[in-house]
Amino acid sequence: MSLDEPTTDVARKPEDGGSSSPTAIAEAPSGFAALQRLADLVTPMALRVAASLRLVDHMRDGVHDLESLAKATDSHQDTLRRLIRHLVAVDVLTESGPDHYEPTAIGELLAHGHPATQVGWLDPSHMVGRADLALVHLFEAVHDGEAVYGQRYGKGFWDEVSDDPSLGATFYDMMAHGQQTVFRQLAERHDWTGVRHILDVGGADGDLLATVLAKESGISAATLLELPGPAARARAKFEGTELADRVAVVDGSFFDPLPVKADTIMLSFVLHNWSDDDAVRILRHCADALEPGGSVLLVECADQSPSRPDPGFTSADLRMLVYFGGRERTYDQWQGLAVAAGMTIDSVSPALAYGARLMALVKSPV
Ligand SMILES: C[S@@+](CC[C@H](N)C(=O)[O-])C[C@H]1O[C@@H](n2cnc3c(N)ncnc32)[C@H](O)[C@@H]1O
Repeated sequence: MSLDEPTTDVARKPEDGGSSSPTAIAEAPSGFAALQRLADLVTPMALRVAASLRLVDHMRDGVHDLESLAKATDSHQDTLRRLIRHLVAVDVLTESGPDHYEPTAIGELLAHGHPATQVGWLDPSHMVGRADLALVHLFEAVHDGEAVYGQRYGKGFWDEVSDDPSLGATFYDMMAHGQQTVFRQLAERHDWTGVRHILDVGGADGDLLATVLAKESGISAATLLELPGPAARARAKFEGTELADRVAVVDGSFFDPLPVKADTIMLSFVLHNWSDDDAVRILRHCADALEPGGSVLLVECADQSPSRPDPGFTSADLRMLVYFGGRERTYDQWQGLAVAAGMTIDSVSPALAYGARLMALVKSPV
């Protein structure tokens, strides 16, 4: 029997040695093709290898023939052809002549220079591409309810991005790029009246602060708290800019008491990286650092519990589990965490890009 053929009994032909009955052979059950498509691991891995070999970049540089592509990617020529043939079969590449290949519109997204490049998600030398490979340990994550990134790589996700500047850069650059729209929407749509000092907790490279401060000249001071690696990147970004004297970057951890008090504390896409217990610890530190009348601006996706889950939300949720032991949350779950930390959600914005919401948390009356 050929391994290219479906391997369930229902699809086997008797002459292949299958044991199924004639009625079962007649038709694959409904959902069979869909399940095969959903369960396929070959194409996702082939795309990752293509991204890692920079196949499309080489094609964009004018290298199209198999022999030259094999040399440029240091690959075994016949095996590279087999990889490429699969990518042709699934419409990522096209064969423009014998052993000559071009990217299709889908394939173009594997180019590093494409404005919507997907390389960061796929290439294992980039942090997210690397972290996604830990999904092979989803079995253990589901069994134990914990992150498995460290199990695969011997070190936690945040230790790696903070300790390895070039790997860290792939993560922080991708995040800064991906969040631009949300940051712009936050700067434009939130009412910043009366805000004097923002503390951005886990503020990465400072792109959110930079976007808000550039628009709101009335905000006189901002502090960014980060792990040492990203803090150094943020410091370098602000140095010499016109925002430099309004921003202080502090190395530290949000699991310790926060370094300053502020009337507005930003927590943007931080808490989904953490378990409920850790998220409440972080929120308590934020509540303790709030000046009277201040608020914590929580920016996260907040599934409003639709009857049918959104696959973007659920896949992000499983990523958070595998990478960090974190989770995506519904509005009610965010409210539960806020209450556990002595706060309550005072207002919620309409959906921003990627379904993100801004939830303003204020201290509960005692
Ligand atoms: C998903 S990123 C979000 C970054 C940014 N706020 C944004 O909206 O793009 C989470 C951030 O938390 C930071 N972080 C992780 N552990 C931390 C800790 N213990 N203390 C401070 N920051 C931490 C990471 O370096 C990272 O920048």
